[in-house]
Amino acid sequence: MDKQTVQKMIDLAIGQLAFSYVPYSGFRVGASLLTESGKIYTGCNIENASYTPTNCAERTAFFKAVSEGERKFKAICVVGGADGVLTAYAQPCGVCRQVMMEFCDPDTFQIILATDREQYEIFTLKEMLPMGFGPKNLAAEVR
Ligand code: THU
Repeated sequence: MDKQTVQKMIDLAIGQLAFSYVPYSGFRVGASLLTESGKIYTGCNIENASYTPTNCAERTAFFKAVSEGERKFKAICVVGGADGVLTAYAQPCGVCRQVMMEFCDPDTFQIILATDREQYEIFTLKEMLPMGFGPKNLAAEVR
């Protein structure tokens, strides 16, 4: 991925921190999701008084995109920290990795973790979710 696109995604993810709804944890997370066609969807975490309905920033971005007809994705950028201060990488939780597995090729889908537009690292989904269970496991030919 070219640095310009990575930095644009980091800027958009950071921009989402202000929208995150985090009255319980105070931990703000922002995400930006790049489609194959070059469109970028954003997301923030949205907490709930009943806790379990909380939606992570990554899934907000995925569900926004899929609900608009998108199915092919290239990369996601995730940033997060207590009170929105980015001191360390905010790695996607297991549930979000599983949602990525549903729509993305683990060998090629890129996960960008950043603390600012100069400090970032890129991982594949396969690195973050080795031996993941996905749609291919349910394909007719493996049954
Ligand atoms: N969170 C995310 O938004 N993404 C993740 O992948 C990890 C966790 C949110 C959920 C909750 O609002 C807060 O961070 C603390 O867990």
